[in-house]
Amino acid sequence: MIKVLRKAIASHIPEEFNLSEDELVNLMEVPRDIKFGQVALPVFRWAKEFKKAPPQIAAELADDLKKKNIAHVEEITPVAGFLNVRFSDSYLQSLLFKECEVNKPNIGHSEQGQGQTIVIDYSSPNVAKPMSVGHLRATMIGQAIYNISQSQGFKMVGVNHLGDWGVQFGRLALAYRMWSNEYDFENEPMQSLFAIYVRFHEEMENNPELEKQGSLEFKKLEEGDADLKALWQKFIDISLNEYNQVYDLLGVKHDAVLGESFYNDQMRPVEKLLEEKGLLEESDGAMVVRLDEFDMPPCLIRKSDGASLYATRDLACALYRHNQQKGDQLVYVTGIDQNLHFKQVFKVIEKMGYEWSQNCRHIGFGMYKFAEGKMSTRKGNVIFLRDIVDKAIAMCTQIINEKNPELENKDIVARQVGVGAVIFNDLSCDSIKDVKFDWKKVLDFEGDSGPYIQYAGVRCKSLLEKFEGEINYSLTEALSLPEERSLVRHLLCLSEVMRTSYENFKPHYLASYALELAKLFNNFYHKCPILKAEEHIKLQRMTLVSCTLTILEKSLSLLNIEIPNKM
Ligand code: ARG
Repeated sequence: MIKVLRKAIASHIPEEFNLSEDELVNLMEVPRDIKFGQVALPVFRWAKEFKKAPPQIAAELADDLKKKNIAHVEEITPVAGFLNVRFSDSYLQSLLFKECEVNKPNIGHSEQGQGQTIVIDYSSPNVAKPMSVGHLRATMIGQAIYNISQSQGFKMVGVNHLGDWGVQFGRLALAYRMWSNEYDFENEPMQSLFAIYVRFHEEMENNPELEKQGSLEFKKLEEGDADLKALWQKFIDISLNEYNQVYDLLGVKHDAVLGESFYNDQMRPVEKLLEEKGLLEESDGAMVVRLDEFDMPPCLIRKSDGASLYATRDLACALYRHNQQKGDQLVYVTGIDQNLHFKQVFKVIEKMGYEWSQNCRHIGFGMYKFAEGKMSTRKGNVIFLRDIVDKAIAMCTQIINEKNPELENKDIVARQVGVGAVIFNDLSCDSIKDVKFDWKKVLDFEGDSGPYIQYAGVRCKSLLEKFEGEINYSLTEALSLPEERSLVRHLLCLSEVMRTSYENFKPHYLASYALELAKLFNNFYHKCPILKAEEHIKLQRMTLVSCTLTILEKSLSLLNIEIPNKM
């Protein structure tokens, strides 16, 4: 939407500026201060060539453009090294209305990713363990990046890289054989599986014999023992069943579940390839790729006992994602603590001579910080994702029962609001930072929360339901109150926010945008009578309400947050 405005200006920039229209459009920004309008062109880059100070260039260009009487332009202001352009309210409004009318489902989308594939690895929990809150981040940040990139025209391949291989499966098999009859695997499979996992590791501390046996069992599993394989598959099934329930609640979908085990037969070939390329070196009996020139510790490829490693698996996996899944970009979403691991893996790929290592990205995220005493940690200091989501839903049910007991479809609304609250809290700050978690804030309907934004959407829906006229997107008379104008301008920024959110892989741009939109809408709602206004103003305002809903729905749906019909 903003692009139309930029193009209008770019086409009038004199030839001596020597940039194509597209280049100019890409250079343009949104003015820092909204009063300067919708388009800002920084002119610093021409200072040398024109032998003039940027403010002078901006001032002269402003004079020049003013003479051209560009359609719908109301004001051109040079500010320091920027040329700012403000378009008329009526034009902005008609642009917004038209966009909402013709482009509804795909509003804000672009085609910049046409013909390109992004393989994104997200959620990726470890079998036999329930997902932790850390996996909530890995899941929701990943799903949001998936949705946002898809809206920019990329073909997306979402992969769940299950942790489904390693010595723990030998241990689990032993534990299962020893103790399964003491647990209720029938009715509580995941809890039981996790319980024997924890128990085995506890007992192993005092009984090193168990550790040895566990390793032996794993060796048998690696050699293809059929009984062990069946048990291993059972553990995966139990775990996936649990994960899928959580994914259903959160609206998360992967295109493929390819766990670590999937790469088993590609480990030796990768080692061979590294060897052929002369990259493999021995170090204390282990095989490594040295990364001294990058000031990094060596990347461990094979341990002295012959077992392959997490890094080797990720090398095989990256090759697969590039060669077989045709990923032009490979994106990995995990905790920041795996930063070095991915840096090493990407550097090894670079040393192998593959230029596409440039297109591998690790999105590392910060940890959860709980407001003290609000959520007791279970044994092992893990807080489970499921517990957080279940609790949020239960709290919403309680709030609904107190405040709105007659509400229809209470269960659905409680899920939408509870889940929305948890997701928004997670995505509302920069992923790289730690997330504060405080139940009071997460579910504060008046504060900067998911429910607050959802409620703005519910207001729009209810206005539209009560409205008896017909929305008319071709109205031209402009709304002129400050609350209306700020809302229109903010609505017009959606496509820009979606684009930058993709380009930086930062879902919180969209989350902040949605929050600001809800606030601006509420200002408008409180200051401007809508259904009680005069007929023609009512129609204008209702059309604005309809646009607000379209754009709020789009920005929230990209974050996997739903808007209930009523709440
Ligand atoms: N299973 C790992 C964890 O829970 C994340 C895996 C990330 N993906 C990868 N290709 N290494 O931390």
